[in-house]
Amino acid sequence: MKMVRLLWHDYRYFPYERGLAKREARALFGRAPQEDPDGLALQGACECEDAPSRLTYFKAALAGQVLVVPDQAKLEATGNGNGSAWEPARQPIPSLHRQCTRYSAHGLHEYRGKFNPQVVRAIGNLLRLEPGAWVLDPFCGSGTTLLEAAHIGWNGLGVDINPLAVLIANAKIAAFNASPDEFDRECEALAKRHDAAVDGLDCQEHLPEHGYLQKWFPLPVLRKLNAILHAITSTRPAPLQDVFRVILSDIIRDVSFQDHADLRIRRRKDPAQDYPAVELFLETLRAKVASVVRARKHIQPKEGAIQYAIFGDTRDIYSVTWPVTARRRFQAFDAAITSPPYATAMPYLDTQRLSLAILGLIESRELRHGEKRLIGNREIQDNERLYLEEELRTNAAQLPENASRFCRHLLALADDPKHGFRRRNVPALTYKYLADMGSMFASTHRVIKAGGGYALLVGRNSTTLKGKQVLIDTPALLADVAQSRGWRLEETLTFETYHRYDVHQSNSIREEALIILRAN
Ligand SMILES: C[S@@+](CC[C@H](N)C(=O)[O-])C[C@H]1O[C@@H](n2cnc3c(N)ncnc32)[C@H](O)[C@@H]1O
Repeated sequence: MKMVRLLWHDYRYFPYERGLAKREARALFGRAPQEDPDGLALQGACECEDAPSRLTYFKAALAGQVLVVPDQAKLEATGNGNGSAWEPARQPIPSLHRQCTRYSAHGLHEYRGKFNPQVVRAIGNLLRLEPGAWVLDPFCGSGTTLLEAAHIGWNGLGVDINPLAVLIANAKIAAFNASPDEFDRECEALAKRHDAAVDGLDCQEHLPEHGYLQKWFPLPVLRKLNAILHAITSTRPAPLQDVFRVILSDIIRDVSFQDHADLRIRRRKDPAQDYPAVELFLETLRAKVASVVRARKHIQPKEGAIQYAIFGDTRDIYSVTWPVTARRRFQAFDAAITSPPYATAMPYLDTQRLSLAILGLIESRELRHGEKRLIGNREIQDNERLYLEEELRTNAAQLPENASRFCRHLLALADDPKHGFRRRNVPALTYKYLADMGSMFASTHRVIKAGGGYALLVGRNSTTLKGKQVLIDTPALLADVAQSRGWRLEETLTFETYHRYDVHQSNSIREEALIILRAN
């Protein structure tokens, strides 16, 4: 009898990954796999020819004498930490020490809150998305979904309200689409060019808001950053300029007075007079370019598919100015895949304040206003809290009964003179978050095909009110809200994660949930 054997990687898996692996095998091969000593086995011949190459969680698929290394395994094999030069002629099946999440252009920038790229491919398999499918990421952040779309051959469009996120996402796509020779050559040309520029330039030419930046960088560093930005302007083709700017923006925290460990912008305790900005930039640049070039040895951009991130507010997706190529598809996305912000989200703009200023993406005085437009933003004044509490009591946003009751429960618990402003704000912020997510669900529902899937990966959080810990079951609340806005809940899968490679941290388990919805 014929059989297909799927082989596990040599690295450690989270339990949820093995669960997803079984599900994607069933979705791709059309039958349930069985446990096998080194992986999973499927009885019968492999009818869907490209199923093995589309797998996420296996290092190889064996059908008789035929061996297939999935595209994902090839990509991970080219990532840092896995031996940079995987040669199929010498080693037909890659042997990886750790799961790599920064392969190809995923490591271009360490945007906070990125999600695991493997999960995007696996979700696509569960939703049975074929190459050529149209996929939306309504909170695309730094473009993890879009870059996976480029690797797989989906058309991917993303929306984000943080201009830096949009720049990073488009830069990742440009890096992957660039000709590897050209990319290498431009990287070396830039390394040579910046030297000539350092001395001859006044440090303000390419740096907006010089006064503001002087508070956050030593003057010699500003001069170097200015020279690098100047050298970047001669890079051709033009889309590579943004790739290099994004790489620069990823190191500027290290050469500033900003405390590296703090998400908020706070000053270092031990500021220096100067930092080796040029050396750090060039080292980072070469490593990041090399990662993309290695990936391109094995995986090529798929013709005819486009990926694109756009600045906009996903609560009102119709107001977004879509590119012409995308407009035709406007109401016909096959699916959406995203990791949305949490109820009291990360301060995405504040955290990246220096990058936003250096690249001229947002003026420092606009930051507060920009941050307020983010869903999950936790900065509210007392008068806004009182206004939101009034809306919460009357359920002005027409949240479903469970969600509305939970917000009223929080309001009752928060009413304690011992609470500081952060705790007092919890009910209003939770209500505002759910109302905003309700608008987002209604808005995305208008652009996804009937029956199309929507997968959201989101965590549970908790807060302490009146001395008691209160669980905010965001996935369950969101599933309720989605159902009141035109979506049907297909299932919720729980993902337990912990620090995979650090034994000392392995006790700190984090729990996230993957919600899968279908458009009614
Ligand atoms: C968890 S992050 C997404 C990260 C992304 N999956 C990645 O891998 O980089 C959530 C994103 O939602 C964005 N966001 C928050 N409110 C938004 C809104 N109203 N419209 C569009 N994007 C928004 C934030 O700027 C942030 O980039």
